[in-house]
Amino acid sequence: MRKDMKKGILLLAGTIIVAATVTAAAETLEKKDFDCAKTLAQRCESCHYRNRICGRIGRTSERRWKAIISRMMRHGAILDKKTAKKLARCLAALGPENELCR
Ligand code: HEC
Repeated sequence: MRKDMKKGILLLAGTIIVAATVTAAAETLEKKDFDCAKTLAQRCESCHYRNRICGRIGRTSERRWKAIISRMMRHGAILDKKTAKKLARCLAALGPENELCR
């Protein structure tokens, strides 16, 4: 009986540690590789198709993207400041040949 309880506690502790590690790993990944495609899909494509955005990719500076995204936020796009900044950077970094606009 006592042995079983010990086992149970160990198992529980193990599960918690694994869960914490997985969560931490996921957070690091998110911070490192900002998901441009996911953000576009979730925050930008409710009002217009991606091709509206793709038309500008490869010929728009980060500064310009920031201004556009701010305008979109006035239209009603919901992004926090950090995400807006990351998105502007990622869009500006894309070339005309990219994964997002194929
Ligand atoms: C609430 C609706 C809405 C959302 C969400 C939205 N847009 Fe727009 N978008 C518009 C409207 C309306 C226009 C046309 C008027 C204009 O250009 O301001 C437009 C036009 C555009 C254009 C073409 C205009 C130009 O200057 O080249 C781009 C690029 C664009 N949006 C990018 C984005 C990006 C990037 C996002 C996500 C951060 C986004 N939009 C989210 C409503 C929206």
